[in-house]
Amino acid sequence: KTLNIDVSRIEQRITSQTKAILAVDVFGHPAEWDELEQIARKHDLLLIEDSAEALGSEYKGCKAGTFGDAALYAFYPNKQMTTGEGGVVLTNGEQIAKLCRSLRNQGRGEGNEWLKHERLGYNYRLSDIHCALGLAQLERIDELLGRRALVAQAYNDRLKDVEGVSIPYVAPHIKIGWFVYVVRLADHYSRADRDRILQELKKIGIGCGNYFSPIHLQPFYREQFGYQLGDFPVTEHSSDRTIALPFFAGLSEAEVNHVVSALRQLL
Ligand SMILES: Cc1ncc(COP(=O)(O)O)c(C=O)c1O
Repeated sequence: KTLNIDVSRIEQRITSQTKAILAVDVFGHPAEWDELEQIARKHDLLLIEDSAEALGSEYKGCKAGTFGDAALYAFYPNKQMTTGEGGVVLTNGEQIAKLCRSLRNQGRGEGNEWLKHERLGYNYRLSDIHCALGLAQLERIDELLGRRALVAQAYNDRLKDVEGVSIPYVAPHIKIGWFVYVVRLADHYSRADRDRILQELKKIGIGCGNYFSPIHLQPFYREQFGYQLGDFPVTEHSSDRTIALPFFAGLSEAEVNHVVSALRQLL
């Protein structure tokens, strides 16, 4: 229902090679962090929260981005707040924090000595200019999240009784910091039906997307690991029927009405 990892199927996939569990808070809906922490602890695995889409979300009253050994937020312009590009890693682990600081700084050590590289690193430094943009966004974060929540509510109100689509599911113990607004077509629609609807919406100037396309079917993963269609049937079934509707803080009620009436006509 949430499109998140199915915690009941994790343990059977753990092998002696497994080092960590990486769970995504898909579309801003936090994964089942209590269960994930139990499994990670039982098997002595690191746990990483990909909360890139979940800034402002809460799981049982705790903020997304506070679970596991490390978590992250991403600040690409489609996110709840942006720095243009970039993101942050959140952790209480001193070792992880040191490692991340070194990796982002071309492998330099704690002393930040310019010509001393202790490990293979990268240039992942977020510039002052990006940070300044992020700080200005952070000042308005409640307003930005609030406006996104109103847009999501407007869509929910208009789509909840429409036959053929389901609105985003939000579990009772969850609060969502809205990232995208993704509806799902009923099972009797095919991928071709979904693509036709996307095409028709785009034709009349409504920006929408087939968000998400499964990772295992990306050319790189097919070539590198030999994945093919059918390997992850639940993912494929869901992804064939998702439609991301236009979604941003400034979307007006009239625009929401326009999108909803266009979608209804195409169902
Ligand atoms: C779940 C998830 N993880 C990671 C990322 C990557 O973030 P970035 O754009 O900073 O590479 C994104 C961005 O869209 C995301 O949605």
